[in-house]
Amino acid sequence: MLTINGDEEITVGIAPLLGAINVAATPIGTVDNALEHKDMTIANFSKTRIMGSMLQVNHIRLAYEPRLVLDDVSFTVAPGEKAGLIGVNGAGKSSLLKIIAGLLDADGGTVMLPRTYGYLSQDVVHEDPVAGEGTVRDFIFSSTGLDAAISTYEELASEVGLATEGELPALLGRFERAQNELDRLGYYDADARAEQLISGLDLGGVTLERYVRTLSGGQKTKLALVRLLFQAPDLLLLDEPTNFLDVEATAWLMDFLERYNGAILIISHDLDLLDRAINKVLRLNEFTHKLEEFRGTYSNYMTQTGDALALMERTKKVQEREIARLRKTSDKLRGFGATRVSQRIAIDKRIATLETSMPKLPQASRRISIDFPVRLASGRVVMRAEHLFKRYGAKEVFRNISFQVERKQRLVVVGLNGAGKTTLLRILLGLTKADKGKVIVGDRVRTGYYAQENEGLDYSSTVINEAMAVLSDDAKRVRGVLGRFLFSGDRVFQQVSTLSGGEKTRLALAKMVLDGPNLLVLDEPTTHLDVLSRNIIGEALGSYYGTIIAVTHDVEFVRYLQPDTLLLMPEGRMLAYSSEHDELLKRA
Ligand SMILES: Nc1ncnc2c1ncn2[C@@H]1O[C@H](COP(=O)(O)OP(=O)(O)OP(=O)(O)O)[C@@H](O)[C@H]1O
Ligand SMILES: [Mg+2]
Repeated sequence: MLTINGDEEITVGIAPLLGAINVAATPIGTVDNALEHKDMTIANFSKTRIMGSMLQVNHIRLAYEPRLVLDDVSFTVAPGEKAGLIGVNGAGKSSLLKIIAGLLDADGGTVMLPRTYGYLSQDVVHEDPVAGEGTVRDFIFSSTGLDAAISTYEELASEVGLATEGELPALLGRFERAQNELDRLGYYDADARAEQLISGLDLGGVTLERYVRTLSGGQKTKLALVRLLFQAPDLLLLDEPTNFLDVEATAWLMDFLERYNGAILIISHDLDLLDRAINKVLRLNEFTHKLEEFRGTYSNYMTQTGDALALMERTKKVQEREIARLRKTSDKLRGFGATRVSQRIAIDKRIATLETSMPKLPQASRRISIDFPVRLASGRVVMRAEHLFKRYGAKEVFRNISFQVERKQRLVVVGLNGAGKTTLLRILLGLTKADKGKVIVGDRVRTGYYAQENEGLDYSSTVINEAMAVLSDDAKRVRGVLGRFLFSGDRVFQQVSTLSGGEKTRLALAKMVLDGPNLLVLDEPTTHLDVLSRNIIGEALGSYYGTIIAVTHDVEFVRYLQPDTLLLMPEGRMLAYSSEHDELLKRA
């Protein structure tokens, strides 16, 4: 049991420790960070770790003073149950998952975990970077202890070869145990299983022999997910795992999760995924800071809550109409003076009752409100790419790409993972060098770049300093724009590294607005955003007065953007956009 409660003892189950205590158990957790959990002690490990069969979260409370984030949050996820954790950006979803995984201390409450669990963070790149000197195989196998079992087996095999007759019986006993351990860990089809996951998540081309350190950032993130799925723990804790996957890999993951035998607690803003892969919705209410539970898929949840809301709205309207009617009567009676006093009092009483019983509609979420101003228009030709070639080592990314983008044109770049979309954008911006070819930037072009994975943000800075760095001479405007992106009051002094995923995206977009560019280069700008914010940003960009080059596979977002052209990667073909291409976008 993982106990999280002020001064109580805290224990976390970790593979190497458990190995020594309970040989039959599979390793616990892939949370390597948990090893450093500050209050963990080996001494009380075996005493207090009561392995439950399911996840039980009891009365969790968390405040980032003075702000309350989680208030008395309790729920369970039973074996095999699949729960989706939803809520607006900043509601506290990631914080809750970190508390469960033992990476963050709550202010109160307890967590009981099933025997094995694994966690994937929303920001793998910054929070839990994949590192290591070994191969991809070692890294994946280490999630179940298979790597260690293999080396023990190999050592014993060579010792057996060299042993004298006297040593042999004892050695053979150990050798047999090592063999059994390999069997138990599924050694014989382990390569095949790992390879299946690698190709499913579209890490194509990465072999098990590759060294981890030679992988790109994006590939490492996917590898972290592969390792977790390979481990196949009793409980998977996933924080927006599809953010870095293209549509095909997302679909594969959905299938995988749907068929998964263990329990799942997943945070996602992907409505498709929430509809297919879960059977229970846990909504973190951003006003009450409490958790609301609904049986069924996201659609079921929407019908339930939507219907409830519609009913409340209807009731409220009817009551309001009734009150207005009664008021009129009451006023009329007043004209009759003393003769009708008792009737009037009765009516006023009825009005008072109706008023107090009026349903209170839930508070609507705060909306960001934005527009993207252009300070100065660019020349007619904004950008021209001429015969661009790019390869990374032996792998060709694309060849001979040429195109031109003109003022106010909206170009959406489409292609599978690895088709070189981000690379192309970076070449256009001069951040990466092409092997051959050139990019010509037009007159008076002022570019705003939204990079994947929040690359453009300084994590050690604060919200206000990041924004002031863009527009240092106009503090009032900076505060105004930050306010419209929902950073007001003391929130502007918050450190960037502690912002939630969606808040980081909002800050990056706010910086772009402050700069007033006439060319927006956007790399997947809607990942991390909740549905409401996604629509608002979509609307704002729809009426943007400048030029847009965007990489996205969010079909809804593309509809807002109303692109005139699609650029298909890696072949570099330009197509006039029509809504028939939505299918293509979905697959890209
Ligand atoms: N160390 C901290 N200090 C102050 N505030 C913090 C800290 N860590 C997180 N927060 C705030 O707590 C709130 C909850 O953050 P959390 O990351 O849990 O949100 P989330 O629901 O996962 O949001 P998103 O959908 O954007 O990922 C956010 O408003 C965040 O800014
Ligand atoms: Mg989050």
